[in-house]
Amino acid sequence: MHAGAPPLAAGYGADVRDPRKILAEAAHTLDFDRPVGLVLLGIMGQLSDDEGPERIAAELIGALPRGSYVALSDGTDTSEKLKAAVEAYNAQSVNTYHLRSPERIGSFLQGLRLVEPGLVRSADWRPDPGSADNAHEQGHAVGAVGLKE
Ligand SMILES: C[S@@+](CC[C@H](N)C(=O)[O-])C[C@H]1O[C@@H](n2cnc3c(N)ncnc32)[C@H](O)[C@@H]1O
Repeated sequence: MHAGAPPLAAGYGADVRDPRKILAEAAHTLDFDRPVGLVLLGIMGQLSDDEGPERIAAELIGALPRGSYVALSDGTDTSEKLKAAVEAYNAQSVNTYHLRSPERIGSFLQGLRLVEPGLVRSADWRPDPGSADNAHEQGHAVGAVGLKE
């Protein structure tokens, strides 16, 4: 990067429940006239239904210019074993996690065109050739990348 060039990435310590603040902070360094990448990996699951994850995702995505990509992944409620483990975790943690159906998780990317292979088990999203089968550890998360057109 040459001197004076705008930064290509920026980090902030912000609460995802306050998307307006995140966007305001980001606007200090990112050029919102050009495509932006938004990474929401394991983040929406931190929000309870009462906190309005759909509204928060829509607000963040709504602020992105066309051509932006959003990567999203979260744990699903498709395993009784994982549900029990997360319940136990939530009972003794300040941060709680909220498993949801794959359809609900995919709905956070509403309005975006999902790039291939769409919403799939996270371990199956373009795995590195020859990568180990990690079905056991990651079998109950789904993810997708959406393009804002
Ligand atoms: C499951 S981890 C995912 C971390 C990382 N994105 C990854 O994929 O490896 C969830 C992260 O969200 C953070 N977190 C929890 N509640 C949050 C909130 N309200 N706003 C922003 N981050 C939060 C946690 O501290 C934790 O680092």
